[in-house]
Amino acid sequence: MCGIVGYTGKDLALPIILGALERLEYRGYDSAGVALVEDGKLIIEKKAGKLRELVKALWGKNYKAKTGIGHTRWATHGSPSDENAHPHTDEKVRFAVVHNGIIENYLALKEELIKEGVKFRSDTDTEVIAHLIAKYYEGDLLEAVLKTVNRLEGAFAFAVVTVHEPNRIVGAKKGSPLIVGVGEGENFLASDIPAILPYTKNVIVLDDGEVADLTPESVNVYSFSGEPVTKEVLVTPWDLVSAEKGGFKHFMLKEIHEQPKAVVDTYKGFLSVEPSIPFSLKDFRRVLVIACGTSYHAGLVGKYWMERYAGVPVEVVYASEFRYGHFPVSDKDLVIGISQSGETIDTKFALQSAKEKGAFTVGLVNVVGSAIDRESDYTLYTHAGPEIGVAATKTFTAQLTALYCLAVRESDEKEQLLKRFEKVPALMERTLSSAEEVEKKAEKYMKYKHFLYLGRYLSWPVALEGALKLKEISYIHAEGYPAGEMKHGPIALIDENMPVMVVAPKDRVYEKIVSNVEEVKARKGKVIAVGFEGDGVLTQKSDDFIPVPAVDEPLTPFLTTVPLQLFAYYIASKLGLDVDQPRNLAKTVTVE
Ligand code: G6P
Repeated sequence: MCGIVGYTGKDLALPIILGALERLEYRGYDSAGVALVEDGKLIIEKKAGKLRELVKALWGKNYKAKTGIGHTRWATHGSPSDENAHPHTDEKVRFAVVHNGIIENYLALKEELIKEGVKFRSDTDTEVIAHLIAKYYEGDLLEAVLKTVNRLEGAFAFAVVTVHEPNRIVGAKKGSPLIVGVGEGENFLASDIPAILPYTKNVIVLDDGEVADLTPESVNVYSFSGEPVTKEVLVTPWDLVSAEKGGFKHFMLKEIHEQPKAVVDTYKGFLSVEPSIPFSLKDFRRVLVIACGTSYHAGLVGKYWMERYAGVPVEVVYASEFRYGHFPVSDKDLVIGISQSGETIDTKFALQSAKEKGAFTVGLVNVVGSAIDRESDYTLYTHAGPEIGVAATKTFTAQLTALYCLAVRESDEKEQLLKRFEKVPALMERTLSSAEEVEKKAEKYMKYKHFLYLGRYLSWPVALEGALKLKEISYIHAEGYPAGEMKHGPIALIDENMPVMVVAPKDRVYEKIVSNVEEVKARKGKVIAVGFEGDGVLTQKSDDFIPVPAVDEPLTPFLTTVPLQLFAYYIASKLGLDVDQPRNLAKTVTVE
């Protein structure tokens, strides 16, 4: 939540900061702002609304600054207004701060500062940081930041610039992500790698409790106690092309179409590390999967595979529920935390607590160097490339790939099962080639206000994920349900105004779900069915049939997911909604 960026170097800072904010906008988009150090003063421009509002406000202004910071916000403290937008400054506008996270003791700090005569301009927690830095400044920005961070409680990543030291940025991290991009004659700070990809692939991932001190020519990292820290410079495998739309109208559509590649890359990545994976699922009494949102749905699919191929009981728990529940966890448990970003705070904290109780923790993440990557006992990666659309798509099927591989490696039939999987990417391509057919169905159903999504067995999590996609980006109410449970409640909702999306590949529960289709039809419900090509029964019984290629039962989620993503995408797009940045959501949720 919230994206921050900083630039100090040889080029004009403003276009670089705005470009970086555009690539970070997925992290929050209710206001944006920049601070530039120019001619001995700070220029602050900030606007409520999307980044384009800030760009409009800056139109025609040719700032010459070569050092600056920027922010794109997802509001926590204070409504999205111009005043509450970042950067925030001290009273004399000598220091400007952009911040991602929450300062939990900000009220106490604010009272202290008010008593000292400080006047606040915003309702944000962030403003205390700017005033504290101003208070502690005695000629060295780094010193002032070190004194400040030791007063702050909560999670934060922030960057600060000052008129007193025009070619310097200092950033600090505790709990929220912050990376340094190491360039030539220029250096960057950012919440995430896509921000800096046009300029450098050399990255330093800061750890909690570290401060980075940047000038155009140098990067130095210190602990909060001021000790120098030697950091490794990583080379990110991501490229700029993967962080741009490449001719697609939206990132989400591009990312849906990138799924065959994401799946292949994750599969190959898994095979390359498989011999060195230091655990077997069978070594444990139980596997606990902890995740949020789409990653949770991937975990639910993974449960079927792990129980089938490893014979180990698997529980899938929302990270936000795990933390405050009473789950008995011990060293007999394997705990897998699934997180695209690797930064979701609930998942991160849940894994930490499982680790403290002695469990062996495994992260499944898409972002190398993310918090969950660094804190887990072992990490598996999805190789989906950067995902920019807020609604997860390619990372979901990439997560499925890793979970499938992890499960089948426990089976005596491992080789055949992996071999069979190799057909999946081409079949996904074929599914994607009928996107236009799904678009037509979206056109037909886009005016409905409520949808029910049904599936059984492996298709139940797929139905949940399909419903989540629709509500996230189209704001249409969509409920996912296990089809067998329909008769215990949701059936009461069914009438001609509530279309039912039924996920019904030919698997062990096919006959059962066909009966559920009959039950819906008997109550004048409209059925859109996703099933195997050539399924005469579903073609005849449903109002609209969306075919996917036939595939072995365990692999059906890879194909049935795709039309549901496309259906949600086309509805939202046809409704004229902001598909990549749906209201109220953020891609990386770093608040509890
Ligand atoms: C947010 C995103 C979802 C995502 C969830 C978990 O809600 O909007 O798309 O599934 O966080 O994110 P993670 O990075 O942990 O997979």
